[in-house]
Amino acid sequence: MGHREPFVTGYLTEHFADDAYQGFQGYRAVGGYETARAVLGRTPPRDVIATLQASGLQGRGGAGFSAGLKWSFMPEERDGPSYLVCNADESEPGSFKDRLLLERGPHQLLEGILLAAWATGAETTFVYVRGEYAEAARTLGRAVSEARRAGVLGPNVLASGFGHEVVLVRGAGAYICGEETGLLESLEGRKGQPRKKPPFPAQIGAFGRPTTVNNVETFCHLPHILGKGVEWFRGIGTEQSPGTLLFGVSGHARRPGLYELPLGTGLDEILFEHAGGVMDGRKVKGVIPGGMSTPILPADRLDVPMADETLRKRQTALGTGGIIVMDETTCMVRVGSVIAGFYRDESCGQCTQCREGTGWIDKLLTRIERGDGDPSEIAILEDVARKMEGGTICSFADAAAWPIQGLLRHFRSEFEEHLRAGRCPLRESFSL
Ligand SMILES: Cc1cc2nc3c(=O)[nH]c(=O)nc-3n(C[C@H](O)[C@H](O)[C@H](O)COP(=O)(O)O)c2cc1C
Ligand code: SF4
Repeated sequence: MGHREPFVTGYLTEHFADDAYQGFQGYRAVGGYETARAVLGRTPPRDVIATLQASGLQGRGGAGFSAGLKWSFMPEERDGPSYLVCNADESEPGSFKDRLLLERGPHQLLEGILLAAWATGAETTFVYVRGEYAEAARTLGRAVSEARRAGVLGPNVLASGFGHEVVLVRGAGAYICGEETGLLESLEGRKGQPRKKPPFPAQIGAFGRPTTVNNVETFCHLPHILGKGVEWFRGIGTEQSPGTLLFGVSGHARRPGLYELPLGTGLDEILFEHAGGVMDGRKVKGVIPGGMSTPILPADRLDVPMADETLRKRQTALGTGGIIVMDETTCMVRVGSVIAGFYRDESCGQCTQCREGTGWIDKLLTRIERGDGDPSEIAILEDVARKMEGGTICSFADAAAWPIQGLLRHFRSEFEEHLRAGRCPLRESFSL
């Protein structure tokens, strides 16, 4: 992505163009840490959780689970430490919002972490940063040191009597370590393989202790919600999906980049009004709305508000808001093949239908794309994808099946044409 600031800013990103905002003084200058000062040691954790539940904030890591409800799962009685984990692994292809939040607003994240730590009674937060995000890790590391020096982290945060520490952990480049229990395994020094649930992390999480895992963007909303109130927050977005979301636009858009917009903004509005439409005056063919694991929408179905409740009706999902635009020169069989290759490589291999299914889908799509396949193989592809859904340890297998099912739902004739012609019918295929 060429731009370091979003094209359209909102409350999360309004100061991102100002380099000083990265630092402690710059953040303080715009009222930073005032919400933490007002809440820590003063508002009972139970009340903070109730406010967050009333706000309707949905987690921004892809599943859209209620943040307040998740916090309420932390046990009341504890006989030792409990933890918070900030998921900054951001490996979903098409998603780059967390990177910007880390690089341009690290103190906003730290304030969100402090508020969540107070509410959930966590003594330490582990921030698990994607291995490739070197600059983000450096920026956050600097912010943590500044916050410690200023008494914003440590044994007596902002003189509230509450103690909290933040520990940075670097990932090593595996997609599955973004899944929260794969992340916990990796954090503890083991292979990043998701755990069977239950027990959920709120019962047995990091190092066997109660743990809450939230995404970077989820934390960043907290100073705003707890500072400006539930009514203010609910006034933005839709009734079921309040607030803004950082939409990442990539692919064949004229102005790829980040756009902070209210949830419920039309996908067509984001593409044609904000991102300038498709590059080189070409027509749009399809758009993946929420990161690579969300099923594609064809050009005539882009008149949809970007919120989970509306996207679900079109058999897709909001995911992480990573919008991938494909123009009319794109071969959808090739798209399927690229997606399948990714999931084959990234499956952790614990579940048979995921390990074998991703391999089969990749093999079949490679054959169909080359024109080597047999017409019966489209039905086999559908069957394998269906059998991968549900019943696995984590939802990676569903995430691998859904995009393929979406491509077959909307672009089946293109698959059939490859098999009929014995080659790709598009001359200028694919240059994302
Ligand atoms: C295969 C897979 C990969 C995931 N990758 C990420 C990721 O990179 N970042 C993230 O925040 N959540 C990711 N998640 C979702 C997390 O498991 C978890 O739901 C999330 O961190 C919770 O945060 P939230 O409630 O604030 O959204 C992934 C889930 C799956 C199944
Ligand atoms: S679904 Fe796939 S990635 Fe998830 S635990 Fe099973 S094998 Fe691993």
